Amino acid sequence: MAPAVKKLRVGILGCGAIGSRIAKSVTQELKDYCQLAGFYDIAPDKMTKLAKALKKNDLKKRSLKELIQSCDIMVEAVSSPQTDQFVYQALSAGRHVLTMSVGRLIVAQDKIFRAAAKHHCHLLVPSGAIAGIDALKAASMEAIKKIVLTTRKPISGFTQNEYLEKKKVYLGTLKGETVLFDGPVKEAVKYFPQNINVAATLGFACGMPEKIRVRILTSPEYKINSHEIEVVGDCGRITTRTENVTCPDNPKTSWLAVLSAIKTLKDFCTGYRIGT
Ligand SMILES: NC(=O)c1ccc[n+]([C@@H]2O[C@H](COP(=O)([O-])OP(=O)(O)OC[C@H]3O[C@@H](n4cnc5c(N)ncnc54)[C@H](O)[C@@H]3O)[C@@H](O)[C@H]2O)c1
Repeated sequence: MAPAVKKLRVGILGCGAIGSRIAKSVTQELKDYCQLAGFYDIAPDKMTKLAKALKKNDLKKRSLKELIQSCDIMVEAVSSPQTDQFVYQALSAGRHVLTMSVGRLIVAQDKIFRAAAKHHCHLLVPSGAIAGIDALKAASMEAIKKIVLTTRKPISGFTQNEYLEKKKVYLGTLKGETVLFDGPVKEAVKYFPQNINVAATLGFACGMPEKIRVRILTSPEYKINSHEIEVVGDCGRITTRTENVTCPDNPKTSWLAVLSAIKTLKDFCTGYRIGT
């Protein structure tokens, strides 16, 4: 039986693949721990679809401000270049934030961390589609020599990518395994904002993003998203590999990332957390 806890009010920003699934979880498997306060999306049809699926038309919000006012914790799951501002706005209003678009936060990380500290709010970053964040956090208490992230995704995960279009990489003509990117985290999240949040998560977890080398590969043969991490430091050597099925509603998103967010929210609501 679930423990008696004060139910946190959850607001969902972004009613796409991740936001909608988390909203459903809040009303189903997490209903003993939290309650859905509302949801908001810039695309009205996305909100309407979710409202119909949940049979909760009254929880549609008219603005981000209204959403923030209604909740204790805001779940950010938007694909917007303004994500850092949305997160900052929620923290500054004294709301906890669980954020998915981690790569978008790098530009404003100091401001965001300061807002969380000033307003005594938690900024939750789920480990997402990768394994090993727990070990990396512990390892980073001492010296780290190198961190390499190798991400492989099917071609469908890179459609409409401006960086690849500018570089004249024609996805449809690729024959075998192809390296799309090899470089630092800051560039990876800039050029692949919807593909490589895991690189930013690694950077936040170890606090030394400059040590991370990111490799992004694709191939017509790839059917799943996979992420390999290699960490070498004073603690020894850590290697992890996840092979993820993609989210049914968005091939750019790994299903494990959705589950990771739901579990992070559950742990926050119950007040206990295992790992690191
Ligand atoms: N941390 C991780 O491991 C991880 C893994 C996968 C995806 N993500 C990130 O999570 C985010 C959500 O992913 P998704 O698969 O649900 O994407 P999605 O495209 O399915 O949904 C995004 C939603 O955001 C909405 N939106 C865009 N701009 C908005 C704005 N200004 N205000 C309100 N709503 C807005 C869109 O209309 C859409 O409904 C993306 O940024 C994605 O890159 C993170």
